[in-house]
Amino acid sequence: MKTIMAANWKMNKTRSQGEALASEVAAGLEKRPEGRDVLIFPPATALNIVSQSSMGRFETGVQNFYPEENGAYTGEISASMVHECGATWVLVGHSERRHIFNEPDELIARKVNFAVEHGFKTMLCVGETLEEREAGDLRKVLTRQLTSALSGQSPEAASSVLAVAYEPVWAIGTGKTATPADIAEAHGLIRDVLRALFGSACEELPILYGGSVKPSNTAEILGVDNVNGVLVGGASLEAKSFLDIVFA
Ligand code: PGA
Repeated sequence: MKTIMAANWKMNKTRSQGEALASEVAAGLEKRPEGRDVLIFPPATALNIVSQSSMGRFETGVQNFYPEENGAYTGEISASMVHECGATWVLVGHSERRHIFNEPDELIARKVNFAVEHGFKTMLCVGETLEEREAGDLRKVLTRQLTSALSGQSPEAASSVLAVAYEPVWAIGTGKTATPADIAEAHGLIRDVLRALFGSACEELPILYGGSVKPSNTAEILGVDNVNGVLVGGASLEAKSFLDIVFA
């Protein structure tokens, strides 16, 4: 399985800023990183131009969409719309969607089902809050988030189009990275839940780590068991730091 080096720009970069950053990243990928796939989730307004700037060196995905074909859903974006803008991936269940926008497990499951049915590669984010961790609920929370979102999926989907990103909420944008032991524990738990859901197909499903990933900690994180990539927020907003991560 290839290692996935993914950037989540969140609500950053205008269209022109996105074009500049994407072009710089594409130029930096002239010599391709061995065994690694690069992926960028820009804001939807920059998706088209970022996809066009990729020179085929990275894929793009949308950070959010609504799981209906089209219709009266003011303010929402459909999967066909992002597909025409070049997106091959979708991000679902990011903790900012869960916590700031109150997205429930049920909606996240609908999004995963819709995205897979519509041929997208789908990255599901899971992760516990500090309170949940301190209450000893890590396993319970991860099991609930994974089972509710993925129980409609087949082993074939698990081994071809699904990815999971473990992002402990307390490590996102805080500068606090989980320790290698924390990451190993969570990724091991996630692999166990995936095995229960999909059997041996789960071995082909990449599990990424996200939360204050930076050039200086990437190699160590990628060396942890069951870590198959990283999802990078803040440190992906400049070409140099993101490229340093990609080649770490
Ligand atoms: P961060 O964000 O790298 O800024 O912590 C990661 C994410 O939320 O995907």
